[in-house]
Amino acid sequence: RAPYTGQFIIVVIGCGISGVAAAHRLVKSGFHHVRIVEATARSGGRIKTGRLGNNIAEIGASYIHGPSEENPLFCLARDYGLLDPKALTAENQAMDIDERLPWVPNWFSSSGHQKLSTEHMSPALEMFNELLNDTSQFKNQEETPWASVGHFIRSEVRSERWKDKDKSTRKLLLCAVSAKLKEECCASAAHSMDEIDLVGFCMYKGLSGLDCTFPCGFEGLIKNLMSELPADLVTYNRPVSCVHWNNTKNGVNTVIVECDGGERIAADHVIVTVPLGYLKKHHSTLFCPPLPTHKLQSIHKLGFGTCNKIYVEFDSPWWDADCDVIYLVWRDEEDILDHVSDISKSWIRKMSTFTVLKPSERSGIHVLCGWITGHESEYMETLPEQEVRDSITELIRTFTGNATITPRRILRSQWFHDPWTCGSYSHPAIGCSAQDLENMMEPLPTKGSHSQPLQVLFAGEATHPCFYSTVHGALLTGWREADRLISHYSCISQ
Ligand SMILES: Cc1cc2nc3c(=O)[nH]c(=O)nc-3n(C[C@H](O)[C@H](O)[C@H](O)COP(=O)(O)OP(=O)(O)OC[C@H]3O[C@@H](n4cnc5c(N)ncnc54)[C@H](O)[C@@H]3O)c2cc1C
Ligand SMILES: *[C@@H]1O[C@H](CO)[C@@H](O)[C@H](O)[C@H]1NC(C)=O
Ligand SMILES: *[C@@H]1O[C@H](CO)[C@@H](O)[C@H](O)[C@H]1NC(C)=O
Ligand SMILES: *[C@@H]1O[C@H](CO)[C@@H](O)[C@H](O)[C@H]1NC(C)=O
Repeated sequence: RAPYTGQFIIVVIGCGISGVAAAHRLVKSGFHHVRIVEATARSGGRIKTGRLGNNIAEIGASYIHGPSEENPLFCLARDYGLLDPKALTAENQAMDIDERLPWVPNWFSSSGHQKLSTEHMSPALEMFNELLNDTSQFKNQEETPWASVGHFIRSEVRSERWKDKDKSTRKLLLCAVSAKLKEECCASAAHSMDEIDLVGFCMYKGLSGLDCTFPCGFEGLIKNLMSELPADLVTYNRPVSCVHWNNTKNGVNTVIVECDGGERIAADHVIVTVPLGYLKKHHSTLFCPPLPTHKLQSIHKLGFGTCNKIYVEFDSPWWDADCDVIYLVWRDEEDILDHVSDISKSWIRKMSTFTVLKPSERSGIHVLCGWITGHESEYMETLPEQEVRDSITELIRTFTGNATITPRRILRSQWFHDPWTCGSYSHPAIGCSAQDLENMMEPLPTKGSHSQPLQVLFAGEATHPCFYSTVHGALLTGWREADRLISHYSCISQ
Protein backbone atom coordinates (compact mmCIF):
# COMPACT_ATOMS: atom_id res chain seq x y z
CA ARG A 1 0.00 0.00 0.00
CA ALA A 2 1.71 3.17 -1.15
CA PRO A 3 1.16 5.77 1.57
CA TYR A 4 0.89 8.71 -0.78
CA THR A 5 -1.84 7.31 -3.06
CA GLY A 6 -4.25 9.10 -0.72
CA GLN A 7 -3.59 12.43 -2.38
CA PHE A 8 -4.92 11.55 -5.82
CA ILE A 9 -8.41 12.59 -6.79
CA ILE A 10 -10.49 9.93 -8.49
CA VAL A 11 -13.95 10.64 -9.84
CA VAL A 12 -16.23 7.74 -10.67
CA ILE A 13 -19.10 8.61 -13.01
CA GLY A 14 -22.20 6.53 -12.24
CA CYS A 15 -23.31 4.79 -9.06
CA GLY A 16 -24.33 1.40 -10.44
CA ILE A 17 -22.64 -1.79 -9.27
CA SER A 18 -19.48 -1.18 -11.35
CA GLY A 19 -19.04 2.35 -9.95
CA VAL A 20 -19.68 1.24 -6.38
CA ALA A 21 -17.30 -1.71 -6.79
CA ALA A 22 -14.52 0.52 -8.15
CA ALA A 23 -14.92 3.12 -5.39
CA HIS A 24 -15.10 0.41 -2.73
CA ARG A 25 -11.85 -1.19 -3.79
CA LEU A 26 -10.04 2.16 -4.15
CA VAL A 27 -11.12 3.36 -0.70
CA LYS A 28 -10.10 0.03 0.86
CA SER A 29 -6.69 0.39 -0.82
CA GLY A 30 -5.96 3.78 0.73
CA PHE A 31 -7.26 6.25 -1.81
CA HIS A 32 -8.89 8.98 0.28
CA HIS A 33 -10.17 11.31 -2.43
CA VAL A 34 -12.63 9.10 -4.24
CA ARG A 35 -15.93 10.56 -5.27
CA ILE A 36 -18.90 9.12 -7.17
CA VAL A 37 -20.98 11.50 -9.26
CA GLU A 38 -24.43 10.11 -10.09
CA ALA A 39 -27.09 11.58 -12.39
CA THR A 40 -30.11 10.26 -10.51
CA ALA A 41 -31.28 10.48 -6.90
CA ARG A 42 -30.38 6.86 -6.14
CA SER A 43 -27.59 4.31 -6.19
CA GLY A 44 -27.83 0.90 -7.88
CA GLY A 45 -28.44 1.89 -11.51
CA ARG A 46 -29.85 -1.17 -13.26
CA ILE A 47 -30.10 -2.93 -9.89
CA LYS A 48 -33.44 -1.56 -8.76
CA THR A 49 -35.79 -3.28 -6.35
CA GLY A 50 -39.45 -2.27 -6.47
CA ARG A 51 -42.59 -3.48 -4.75
CA LEU A 52 -45.84 -4.99 -5.87
CA GLY A 53 -48.02 -4.92 -2.77
CA ASN A 54 -45.99 -6.72 -0.12
CA ASN A 55 -43.85 -8.54 -2.66
CA ILE A 56 -40.41 -7.76 -3.96
CA ALA A 57 -40.42 -6.95 -7.66
CA GLU A 58 -37.06 -6.44 -9.33
CA ILE A 59 -37.36 -3.68 -11.94
CA GLY A 60 -33.79 -4.35 -13.11
CA ALA A 61 -31.61 -7.39 -12.47
CA SER A 62 -33.22 -10.38 -10.72
CA TYR A 63 -30.82 -13.31 -10.93
CA ILE A 64 -27.29 -14.20 -10.07
CA HIS A 65 -26.44 -16.01 -13.29
CA GLY A 66 -24.33 -19.04 -12.41
CA PRO A 67 -24.17 -18.81 -8.61
CA SER A 68 -21.06 -20.81 -7.72
CA GLU A 69 -17.59 -20.23 -6.23
CA GLU A 70 -16.27 -18.93 -9.54
CA ASN A 71 -18.81 -16.09 -9.49
CA PRO A 72 -17.62 -13.13 -7.38
CA LEU A 73 -21.17 -11.76 -7.11
CA PHE A 74 -22.32 -15.02 -5.58
CA CYS A 75 -19.44 -14.96 -3.07
CA LEU A 76 -20.13 -11.36 -2.12
CA ALA A 77 -23.88 -11.94 -1.68
CA ARG A 78 -23.19 -15.09 0.33
CA ASP A 79 -20.71 -13.30 2.60
CA TYR A 80 -23.24 -10.53 3.27
CA GLY A 81 -25.82 -13.22 4.14
CA LEU A 82 -28.21 -12.16 1.37
CA LEU A 83 -29.01 -15.56 -0.15
CA ASP A 84 -31.44 -18.39 0.59
CA PRO A 85 -29.96 -21.58 2.12
CA LYS A 86 -30.97 -23.48 -1.03
CA ALA A 87 -28.78 -21.26 -3.22
CA LEU A 88 -25.79 -22.06 -1.02
CA THR A 89 -26.04 -25.84 -1.36
CA ALA A 90 -23.40 -27.76 -3.28
CA GLU A 91 -26.11 -29.26 -5.54
CA ASN A 92 -27.36 -25.84 -6.55
CA GLN A 93 -23.84 -24.60 -7.27
CA ALA A 94 -22.97 -27.70 -9.29
CA MET A 95 -26.00 -27.47 -11.58
CA ASP A 96 -24.61 -27.38 -15.11
CA ILE A 97 -26.21 -24.76 -17.29
CA ASP A 98 -25.73 -26.94 -20.37
CA GLU A 99 -28.47 -29.13 -19.00
CA ARG A 100 -30.64 -26.04 -19.18
CA LEU A 101 -32.85 -24.91 -16.40
CA PRO A 102 -34.89 -27.72 -14.93
CA TRP A 103 -37.96 -25.52 -14.94
CA VAL A 104 -41.47 -26.92 -15.18
CA PRO A 105 -43.24 -25.35 -18.18
CA ASN A 106 -46.94 -24.83 -18.86
CA TRP A 107 -47.82 -24.35 -22.52
CA PHE A 108 -50.88 -22.48 -23.76
CA SER A 109 -51.94 -21.88 -27.35
CA SER A 110 -53.75 -19.06 -29.08
CA SER A 111 -56.64 -21.38 -29.91
CA GLY A 112 -57.38 -21.11 -26.20
CA HIS A 113 -58.83 -24.53 -25.69
CA GLN A 114 -56.90 -26.07 -22.89
CA LYS A 115 -53.31 -26.25 -21.79
CA LEU A 116 -51.10 -28.14 -24.23
CA SER A 117 -49.57 -31.32 -22.86
CA THR A 118 -46.02 -30.85 -21.60
CA GLU A 119 -45.02 -34.16 -23.11
CA HIS A 120 -46.41 -33.22 -26.49
CA MET A 121 -44.38 -29.98 -26.47
CA SER A 122 -41.13 -31.33 -25.04
CA PRO A 123 -39.51 -32.03 -28.46
CA ALA A 124 -39.58 -28.26 -29.10
CA LEU A 125 -37.83 -27.51 -25.82
CA GLU A 126 -35.26 -30.25 -26.27
CA MET A 127 -34.47 -29.26 -29.80
CA PHE A 128 -34.17 -25.58 -28.97
CA ASN A 129 -31.78 -26.28 -26.10
CA GLU A 130 -29.75 -28.62 -28.26
CA LEU A 131 -29.38 -26.00 -30.99
CA LEU A 132 -28.40 -23.31 -28.50
CA ASN A 133 -25.76 -25.67 -27.15
CA ASP A 134 -24.64 -26.38 -30.71
CA THR A 135 -23.78 -22.72 -31.25
CA SER A 136 -20.63 -23.34 -29.17
CA GLN A 137 -19.08 -25.08 -32.21
CA PHE A 138 -18.75 -21.61 -33.80
CA LYS A 139 -16.57 -20.22 -31.04
CA ASN A 140 -13.60 -18.35 -32.55
CA GLN A 141 -14.56 -19.39 -36.10
CA GLU A 142 -13.50 -17.04 -38.87
CA GLU A 143 -16.52 -17.83 -40.97
CA THR A 144 -19.89 -19.49 -40.53
CA PRO A 145 -22.64 -20.37 -42.98
CA TRP A 146 -25.03 -18.24 -40.89
CA ALA A 147 -24.58 -14.64 -39.82
CA SER A 148 -26.74 -14.77 -36.75
CA VAL A 149 -28.07 -17.05 -34.05
CA GLY A 150 -31.58 -16.55 -35.45
CA HIS A 151 -30.58 -17.62 -38.97
CA PHE A 152 -28.77 -20.67 -37.63
CA ILE A 153 -31.69 -21.85 -35.50
CA ARG A 154 -34.32 -21.20 -38.17
CA SER A 155 -32.39 -23.00 -40.85
CA GLU A 156 -31.61 -26.01 -38.66
CA VAL A 157 -35.18 -26.37 -37.47
CA ARG A 158 -36.68 -26.03 -40.92
CA SER A 159 -34.34 -28.42 -42.67
CA GLU A 160 -34.76 -31.74 -40.95
CA ARG A 161 -36.85 -31.56 -37.87
CA TRP A 162 -39.97 -33.51 -37.13
CA LYS A 163 -40.53 -34.73 -40.69
CA ASP A 164 -41.66 -37.96 -39.03
CA LYS A 165 -44.44 -36.27 -37.10
CA ASP A 166 -47.92 -35.60 -38.43
CA LYS A 167 -48.53 -32.26 -40.06
CA SER A 168 -50.39 -30.55 -37.25
CA THR A 169 -47.91 -31.64 -34.56
CA ARG A 170 -45.02 -30.44 -36.68
CA LYS A 171 -46.72 -27.11 -37.19
CA LEU A 172 -47.38 -26.72 -33.49
CA LEU A 173 -43.77 -27.51 -32.59
CA LEU A 174 -42.53 -24.93 -35.10
CA CYS A 175 -44.82 -22.35 -33.50
CA ALA A 176 -43.40 -23.34 -30.11
CA VAL A 177 -39.90 -22.65 -31.41
CA SER A 178 -41.06 -19.11 -32.20
CA ALA A 179 -42.08 -18.72 -28.56
CA LYS A 180 -38.69 -20.02 -27.42
CA LEU A 181 -36.85 -17.70 -29.80
CA LYS A 182 -38.73 -14.72 -28.35
CA GLU A 183 -37.75 -15.91 -24.90
CA GLU A 184 -34.12 -16.18 -25.99
CA CYS A 185 -34.26 -12.54 -27.12
CA CYS A 186 -34.56 -11.64 -23.43
CA ALA A 187 -31.17 -13.12 -22.54
CA SER A 188 -29.53 -10.81 -25.08
CA ALA A 189 -31.96 -7.88 -24.85
CA ALA A 190 -32.30 -8.38 -28.61
CA HIS A 191 -35.01 -7.14 -30.93
CA SER A 192 -34.51 -10.38 -32.86
CA MET A 193 -32.00 -13.21 -32.62
CA ASP A 194 -31.34 -12.40 -36.30
CA GLU A 195 -29.32 -9.45 -34.97
CA ILE A 196 -27.05 -11.50 -32.70
CA ASP A 197 -23.68 -12.49 -34.20
CA LEU A 198 -23.31 -16.27 -34.22
CA VAL A 199 -19.58 -16.21 -33.41
CA GLY A 200 -19.97 -13.22 -31.08
CA PHE A 201 -22.69 -15.09 -29.18
CA CYS A 202 -20.04 -17.61 -28.11
CA MET A 203 -17.95 -14.95 -26.34
CA TYR A 204 -20.37 -15.14 -23.42
CA LYS A 205 -19.19 -17.51 -20.72
CA GLY A 206 -21.77 -19.30 -18.62
CA LEU A 207 -20.93 -20.36 -15.08
CA SER A 208 -22.30 -23.38 -13.28
CA GLY A 209 -25.06 -23.03 -10.71
CA LEU A 210 -28.81 -22.72 -10.96
CA ASP A 211 -29.74 -19.02 -11.13
CA CYS A 212 -30.88 -17.63 -7.77
CA THR A 213 -32.47 -14.38 -6.60
CA PHE A 214 -32.12 -12.11 -3.57
CA PRO A 215 -35.06 -12.93 -1.26
CA CYS A 216 -34.99 -9.43 0.23
CA GLY A 217 -34.11 -7.64 -2.99
CA PHE A 218 -31.01 -7.16 -5.17
CA GLU A 219 -30.52 -3.63 -3.82
CA GLY A 220 -29.46 -5.14 -0.49
CA LEU A 221 -26.12 -5.84 -2.17
CA ILE A 222 -25.62 -2.17 -3.05
CA LYS A 223 -26.67 -1.11 0.45
CA ASN A 224 -24.13 -3.45 2.05
CA LEU A 225 -21.28 -2.21 -0.12
CA MET A 226 -22.25 1.44 0.41
CA SER A 227 -22.45 0.99 4.19
CA GLU A 228 -18.70 0.32 4.16
CA LEU A 229 -17.96 3.61 2.39
CA PRO A 230 -17.93 7.20 3.68
CA ALA A 231 -21.48 8.59 3.68
CA ASP A 232 -20.60 11.65 1.58
CA LEU A 233 -18.81 9.67 -1.14
CA VAL A 234 -21.69 9.97 -3.64
CA THR A 235 -23.10 13.19 -5.04
CA TYR A 236 -26.61 12.48 -6.33
CA ASN A 237 -28.66 14.40 -8.90
CA ARG A 238 -25.42 15.53 -10.53
CA PRO A 239 -25.26 14.44 -14.17
CA VAL A 240 -21.86 14.76 -15.78
CA SER A 241 -22.11 16.69 -19.03
CA CYS A 242 -18.49 16.56 -20.22
CA VAL A 243 -15.17 14.93 -19.43
CA HIS A 244 -12.31 17.21 -20.53
CA TRP A 245 -9.28 14.99 -20.99
CA ASN A 246 -5.93 15.02 -22.80
CA ASN A 247 -4.94 18.31 -21.21
CA THR A 248 -1.31 19.06 -21.81
CA LYS A 249 -0.75 20.42 -18.33
CA ASN A 250 1.46 17.83 -16.74
CA GLY A 251 1.34 16.91 -13.10
CA VAL A 252 -1.79 16.69 -10.98
CA ASN A 253 -5.53 17.18 -11.61
CA THR A 254 -5.29 16.75 -15.34
CA VAL A 255 -8.89 15.81 -16.11
CA ILE A 256 -11.84 18.17 -15.63
CA VAL A 257 -15.27 16.66 -15.01
CA GLU A 258 -17.95 19.17 -15.90
CA CYS A 259 -21.42 18.66 -14.43
CA ASP A 260 -24.88 19.95 -15.29
CA GLY A 261 -25.23 23.19 -13.39
CA GLY A 262 -21.64 24.14 -14.01
CA GLU A 263 -19.62 22.44 -11.28
CA ARG A 264 -16.14 21.52 -12.56
CA ILE A 265 -14.26 18.84 -10.68
CA ALA A 266 -10.52 18.54 -11.24
CA ALA A 267 -9.35 14.93 -11.04
CA ASP A 268 -6.28 12.83 -11.62
CA HIS A 269 -8.33 9.92 -12.89
CA VAL A 270 -11.91 9.43 -14.00
CA ILE A 271 -13.67 6.08 -14.19
CA VAL A 272 -16.59 6.22 -16.63
CA THR A 273 -19.31 3.63 -15.91
CA VAL A 274 -22.27 5.05 -17.83
CA PRO A 275 -24.28 2.44 -19.79
CA LEU A 276 -23.43 1.68 -23.41
CA GLY A 277 -26.89 2.95 -24.40
CA TYR A 278 -26.03 6.33 -22.88
CA LEU A 279 -22.62 6.36 -24.60
CA LYS A 280 -24.17 5.61 -27.99
CA LYS A 281 -26.44 8.62 -27.63
CA HIS A 282 -24.17 11.12 -25.90
CA HIS A 283 -20.52 10.27 -26.61
CA SER A 284 -20.02 13.31 -28.82
CA THR A 285 -20.84 15.73 -26.00
CA LEU A 286 -19.58 13.61 -23.10
CA PHE A 287 -15.93 13.68 -24.19
CA CYS A 288 -13.73 16.58 -25.16
CA PRO A 289 -11.64 15.91 -27.22
CA PRO A 290 -13.80 13.19 -28.83
CA LEU A 291 -13.07 9.51 -28.27
CA PRO A 292 -10.56 7.87 -30.64
CA THR A 293 -12.11 6.39 -33.78
CA HIS A 294 -11.62 2.72 -32.92
CA LYS A 295 -13.39 3.20 -29.61
CA LEU A 296 -16.26 5.00 -31.31
CA GLN A 297 -16.61 2.24 -33.87
CA SER A 298 -16.95 -0.35 -31.15
CA ILE A 299 -19.52 1.77 -29.33
CA HIS A 300 -21.55 1.80 -32.54
CA LYS A 301 -21.00 -1.88 -33.39
CA LEU A 302 -21.87 -3.42 -30.05
CA GLY A 303 -25.60 -3.78 -29.54
CA PHE A 304 -27.58 -2.37 -26.66
CA GLY A 305 -31.19 -3.48 -26.63
CA THR A 306 -34.28 -3.27 -24.52
CA CYS A 307 -35.67 -5.97 -22.27
CA ASN A 308 -38.56 -5.06 -20.00
CA LYS A 309 -40.53 -6.89 -17.37
CA ILE A 310 -44.25 -6.61 -16.73
CA TYR A 311 -45.34 -8.01 -13.39
CA VAL A 312 -48.96 -9.14 -13.33
CA GLU A 313 -50.83 -10.02 -10.16
CA PHE A 314 -53.88 -12.32 -10.02
CA ASP A 315 -56.39 -13.27 -7.35
CA SER A 316 -55.93 -16.93 -8.15
CA PRO A 317 -53.47 -18.86 -10.31
CA TRP A 318 -54.52 -20.19 -13.72
CA TRP A 319 -51.32 -22.24 -14.04
CA ASP A 320 -50.27 -25.50 -12.34
CA ALA A 321 -49.03 -25.40 -8.75
CA ASP A 322 -45.57 -26.69 -9.76
CA CYS A 323 -45.27 -24.45 -12.84
CA ASP A 324 -42.14 -22.25 -13.15
CA VAL A 325 -42.62 -20.80 -16.62
CA ILE A 326 -45.56 -20.24 -18.97
CA TYR A 327 -45.16 -20.23 -22.77
CA LEU A 328 -47.72 -18.75 -25.12
CA VAL A 329 -47.74 -20.34 -28.58
CA TRP A 330 -49.39 -18.53 -31.49
CA ARG A 331 -50.79 -21.12 -33.91
CA ASP A 332 -49.86 -19.05 -36.97
CA GLU A 333 -46.14 -18.66 -36.26
CA GLU A 334 -44.71 -21.77 -37.92
CA ASP A 335 -42.37 -19.51 -39.90
CA ILE A 336 -40.26 -19.18 -36.73
CA LEU A 337 -40.46 -15.48 -36.16
CA ASP A 338 -39.29 -13.62 -33.09
CA HIS A 339 -40.49 -10.13 -33.98
CA VAL A 340 -43.77 -8.71 -35.19
CA SER A 341 -44.36 -6.66 -38.33
CA ASP A 342 -47.14 -4.36 -37.14
CA ILE A 343 -45.87 -3.20 -33.78
CA SER A 344 -48.62 -0.79 -32.78
CA LYS A 345 -51.25 -3.45 -33.44
CA SER A 346 -49.46 -6.65 -32.44
CA TRP A 347 -46.69 -5.72 -29.98
CA ILE A 348 -48.22 -8.00 -27.35
CA ARG A 349 -47.31 -11.06 -29.47
CA LYS A 350 -43.69 -10.49 -28.54
CA MET A 351 -44.48 -11.49 -24.97
CA SER A 352 -44.22 -15.27 -25.17
CA THR A 353 -42.88 -16.02 -21.72
CA PHE A 354 -44.08 -15.46 -18.17
CA THR A 355 -42.08 -16.66 -15.19
CA VAL A 356 -43.92 -17.58 -12.00
CA LEU A 357 -42.89 -15.82 -8.82
CA LYS A 358 -43.08 -18.23 -5.95
CA PRO A 359 -46.03 -17.09 -3.80
CA SER A 360 -44.81 -15.59 -0.60
CA GLU A 361 -46.35 -17.42 2.34
CA ARG A 362 -47.63 -14.34 4.06
CA SER A 363 -49.35 -12.40 1.35
CA GLY A 364 -50.57 -15.38 -0.65
CA ILE A 365 -50.69 -13.37 -3.85
CA HIS A 366 -50.06 -14.80 -7.29
CA VAL A 367 -47.63 -12.95 -9.51
CA LEU A 368 -46.22 -13.59 -12.97
CA CYS A 369 -43.37 -11.75 -14.61
CA GLY A 370 -43.88 -11.23 -18.35
CA TRP A 371 -40.81 -10.58 -20.51
CA ILE A 372 -40.72 -8.41 -23.62
CA THR A 373 -37.80 -7.18 -25.72
CA GLY A 374 -37.02 -5.13 -28.78
CA HIS A 375 -38.95 -2.41 -30.56
CA GLU A 376 -42.18 -4.00 -29.31
CA SER A 377 -40.90 -3.42 -25.79
CA GLU A 378 -39.90 0.17 -26.56
CA TYR A 379 -43.37 0.79 -27.97
CA MET A 380 -45.01 -0.76 -24.90
CA GLU A 381 -43.18 1.81 -22.74
CA THR A 382 -45.01 4.65 -24.48
CA LEU A 383 -48.50 3.29 -23.76
CA PRO A 384 -50.56 4.29 -20.73
CA GLU A 385 -50.43 1.63 -18.03
CA GLN A 386 -54.16 0.93 -18.37
CA GLU A 387 -53.69 0.08 -22.04
CA VAL A 388 -50.86 -2.34 -21.27
CA ARG A 389 -53.03 -3.95 -18.62
CA ASP A 390 -55.94 -4.30 -21.04
CA SER A 391 -53.73 -5.91 -23.68
CA ILE A 392 -52.40 -8.40 -21.16
CA THR A 393 -55.89 -9.20 -19.95
CA GLU A 394 -57.01 -9.89 -23.49
CA LEU A 395 -53.89 -11.97 -24.17
CA ILE A 396 -54.42 -14.18 -21.16
CA ARG A 397 -58.13 -14.57 -21.84
CA THR A 398 -57.35 -15.65 -25.39
CA PHE A 399 -54.76 -18.22 -24.33
CA THR A 400 -56.70 -19.69 -21.41
CA GLY A 401 -60.12 -19.50 -23.05
CA ASN A 402 -61.38 -18.03 -19.77
CA ALA A 403 -63.06 -14.69 -20.37
CA THR A 404 -63.25 -13.72 -16.71
CA ILE A 405 -59.58 -13.76 -15.69
CA THR A 406 -58.61 -10.21 -14.72
CA PRO A 407 -55.24 -9.07 -13.41
CA ARG A 408 -55.45 -7.25 -10.09
CA ARG A 409 -52.61 -4.88 -10.98
CA ILE A 410 -49.46 -4.63 -13.06
CA LEU A 411 -46.02 -3.10 -12.66
CA ARG A 412 -43.67 -2.58 -15.59
CA SER A 413 -40.14 -1.40 -16.27
CA GLN A 414 -39.38 1.27 -18.88
CA TRP A 415 -35.64 1.04 -19.46
CA PHE A 416 -35.54 2.42 -22.99
CA HIS A 417 -36.98 5.75 -21.88
CA ASP A 418 -34.73 5.95 -18.82
CA PRO A 419 -32.57 8.91 -19.91
CA TRP A 420 -29.47 7.58 -18.06
CA THR A 421 -29.66 4.04 -19.42
CA CYS A 422 -31.36 4.23 -22.84
CA GLY A 423 -32.06 0.49 -22.96
CA SER A 424 -31.35 -2.60 -20.88
CA TYR A 425 -28.01 -4.29 -21.60
CA SER A 426 -25.47 -5.02 -24.29
CA HIS A 427 -25.13 -7.86 -26.80
CA PRO A 428 -22.83 -8.90 -29.64
CA ALA A 429 -24.64 -7.49 -32.66
CA ILE A 430 -23.70 -8.84 -36.09
CA GLY A 431 -20.08 -8.02 -36.87
CA CYS A 432 -18.92 -7.78 -33.26
CA SER A 433 -15.84 -9.53 -32.01
CA ALA A 434 -13.71 -9.74 -28.87
CA GLN A 435 -11.77 -6.74 -30.18
CA ASP A 436 -14.79 -4.50 -29.66
CA LEU A 437 -14.97 -5.34 -25.97
CA GLU A 438 -11.20 -4.76 -25.74
CA ASN A 439 -11.69 -1.33 -27.31
CA MET A 440 -14.48 -0.55 -24.85
CA MET A 441 -12.28 -1.14 -21.82
CA GLU A 442 -9.12 0.55 -23.14
CA PRO A 443 -8.15 3.57 -21.00
CA LEU A 444 -7.36 7.03 -22.40
CA PRO A 445 -5.06 8.32 -23.61
CA THR A 446 -4.36 5.20 -25.64
CA LYS A 447 -0.94 3.57 -25.80
CA GLY A 448 1.82 5.56 -27.43
CA SER A 449 0.55 8.94 -26.28
CA HIS A 450 2.94 11.16 -24.42
CA SER A 451 0.37 12.72 -22.12
CA GLN A 452 -0.32 11.61 -18.57
CA PRO A 453 -1.48 7.95 -18.59
CA LEU A 454 -4.78 6.60 -17.26
CA GLN A 455 -6.73 9.84 -17.38
CA VAL A 456 -10.01 8.18 -18.28
CA LEU A 457 -10.82 4.54 -17.47
CA PHE A 458 -13.87 2.55 -18.53
CA ALA A 459 -15.90 0.11 -16.49
CA GLY A 460 -19.45 -1.21 -16.70
CA GLU A 461 -21.27 -4.25 -17.98
CA ALA A 462 -20.43 -3.53 -21.65
CA THR A 463 -16.67 -3.60 -21.00
CA HIS A 464 -16.38 -7.20 -19.83
CA PRO A 465 -14.93 -9.66 -22.39
CA CYS A 466 -17.15 -12.63 -21.46
CA PHE A 467 -19.62 -11.60 -18.74
CA TYR A 468 -21.08 -8.54 -20.52
CA SER A 469 -24.79 -7.91 -19.83
CA THR A 470 -24.59 -9.18 -16.24
CA VAL A 471 -24.16 -7.86 -12.73
CA HIS A 472 -21.15 -10.09 -12.03
CA GLY A 473 -19.56 -8.79 -15.22
CA ALA A 474 -20.16 -5.19 -14.16
CA LEU A 475 -18.80 -5.90 -10.67
CA LEU A 476 -15.61 -7.39 -12.09
CA THR A 477 -15.03 -4.41 -14.40
CA GLY A 478 -15.27 -2.00 -11.44
CA TRP A 479 -12.66 -3.98 -9.55
CA ARG A 480 -10.54 -4.28 -12.71
CA GLU A 481 -10.29 -0.51 -13.20
CA ALA A 482 -9.62 0.09 -9.50
CA ASP A 483 -6.84 -2.50 -9.70
CA ARG A 484 -5.45 -0.78 -12.78
CA LEU A 485 -4.94 2.40 -10.75
CA ILE A 486 -3.73 0.57 -7.66
CA SER A 487 -1.08 -1.31 -9.60
CA HIS A 488 -0.12 1.85 -11.52
CA TYR A 489 0.77 3.58 -8.27
CA SER A 490 2.37 0.56 -6.68
CA CYS A 491 4.66 0.33 -9.74
CA ILE A 492 5.58 4.00 -9.42
CA SER A 493 6.28 3.71 -5.72
CA GLN A 494 8.68 0.81 -6.22
C1 LIG B 1 -34.62 -5.49 -17.01
C2 LIG B 1 -33.22 -5.95 -16.69
C3 LIG B 1 -33.01 -7.22 -16.19
C4 LIG B 1 -31.73 -7.64 -15.88
N1 LIG B 1 -31.56 -8.88 -15.34
C5 LIG B 1 -30.33 -9.27 -14.95
C6 LIG B 1 -30.16 -10.47 -14.22
O1 LIG B 1 -31.13 -11.16 -13.88
N2 LIG B 1 -28.89 -10.83 -13.86
C7 LIG B 1 -27.81 -10.08 -14.19
O2 LIG B 1 -26.67 -10.46 -13.85
N3 LIG B 1 -27.94 -8.90 -14.87
C8 LIG B 1 -29.17 -8.49 -15.23
N4 LIG B 1 -29.33 -7.28 -15.85
C9 LIG B 1 -28.14 -6.51 -16.22
C10 LIG B 1 -27.55 -5.78 -15.01
O3 LIG B 1 -28.57 -5.10 -14.33
C11 LIG B 1 -26.49 -4.81 -15.49
O4 LIG B 1 -25.55 -5.48 -16.31
C12 LIG B 1 -25.70 -4.15 -14.36
O5 LIG B 1 -26.53 -3.77 -13.28
C13 LIG B 1 -24.98 -2.94 -14.93
O6 LIG B 1 -24.20 -2.26 -13.96
P1 LIG B 1 -23.30 -1.03 -14.43
O7 LIG B 1 -22.62 -0.52 -13.23
O8 LIG B 1 -22.48 -1.44 -15.59
O9 LIG B 1 -24.33 0.04 -15.02
P2 LIG B 1 -25.56 0.82 -14.32
O10 LIG B 1 -26.13 0.01 -13.21
O11 LIG B 1 -26.46 1.22 -15.42
O12 LIG B 1 -24.87 2.11 -13.68
C14 LIG B 1 -24.55 3.24 -14.44
C15 LIG B 1 -24.92 4.50 -13.65
O13 LIG B 1 -24.48 5.64 -14.40
C16 LIG B 1 -25.43 6.67 -14.18
N5 LIG B 1 -25.25 7.68 -15.24
C17 LIG B 1 -25.58 7.61 -16.54
N6 LIG B 1 -25.23 8.73 -17.19
C18 LIG B 1 -24.65 9.54 -16.27
C19 LIG B 1 -24.07 10.84 -16.32
N7 LIG B 1 -24.01 11.55 -17.47
N8 LIG B 1 -23.57 11.39 -15.19
C20 LIG B 1 -23.62 10.69 -14.02
N9 LIG B 1 -24.15 9.46 -13.91
C21 LIG B 1 -24.66 8.89 -15.04
C22 LIG B 1 -26.75 5.95 -14.23
O14 LIG B 1 -27.79 6.71 -13.61
C23 LIG B 1 -26.42 4.67 -13.44
O15 LIG B 1 -26.69 4.82 -12.05
C24 LIG B 1 -30.62 -6.81 -16.12
C25 LIG B 1 -30.84 -5.51 -16.60
C26 LIG B 1 -32.12 -5.08 -16.88
C27 LIG B 1 -32.32 -3.68 -17.38
C1 LIG C 1 -23.18 -29.51 -26.26
O1 LIG C 1 -22.14 -29.11 -27.13
C2 LIG C 1 -20.91 -29.70 -26.85
C3 LIG C 1 -19.83 -29.05 -27.73
O2 LIG C 1 -20.29 -28.84 -29.05
C4 LIG C 1 -21.02 -31.21 -27.06
O3 LIG C 1 -19.78 -31.85 -26.79
C5 LIG C 1 -22.11 -31.75 -26.12
O4 LIG C 1 -22.31 -33.12 -26.36
C6 LIG C 1 -23.41 -31.01 -26.33
N1 LIG C 1 -24.36 -31.41 -25.32
C7 LIG C 1 -25.61 -31.74 -25.61
C8 LIG C 1 -26.47 -32.12 -24.46
O5 LIG C 1 -26.04 -31.74 -26.74
C1 LIG D 1 -3.77 14.83 -27.16
O1 LIG D 1 -2.80 15.84 -26.99
C2 LIG D 1 -1.64 15.64 -27.79
C3 LIG D 1 -0.62 16.73 -27.40
O2 LIG D 1 -1.22 18.01 -27.42
C4 LIG D 1 -2.02 15.71 -29.24
O3 LIG D 1 -0.89 15.47 -30.04
C5 LIG D 1 -3.06 14.64 -29.52
O4 LIG D 1 -3.52 14.74 -30.85
C6 LIG D 1 -4.26 14.79 -28.59
N1 LIG D 1 -5.15 13.64 -28.76
C7 LIG D 1 -6.47 13.81 -28.96
C8 LIG D 1 -7.26 12.55 -29.10
O5 LIG D 1 -7.00 14.89 -29.05
C1 LIG E 1 -61.98 -18.56 -14.98
O1 LIG E 1 -61.25 -17.70 -14.14
C2 LIG E 1 -61.92 -17.36 -12.94
C3 LIG E 1 -61.09 -16.30 -12.25
O2 LIG E 1 -59.74 -16.68 -12.15
C4 LIG E 1 -62.12 -18.61 -12.11
O3 LIG E 1 -62.78 -18.30 -10.90
C5 LIG E 1 -62.93 -19.62 -12.92
O4 LIG E 1 -63.02 -20.84 -12.21
C6 LIG E 1 -62.29 -19.87 -14.28
N1 LIG E 1 -63.19 -20.66 -15.10
C7 LIG E 1 -62.82 -21.80 -15.65
C8 LIG E 1 -63.84 -22.47 -16.49
O5 LIG E 1 -61.72 -22.27 -15.49
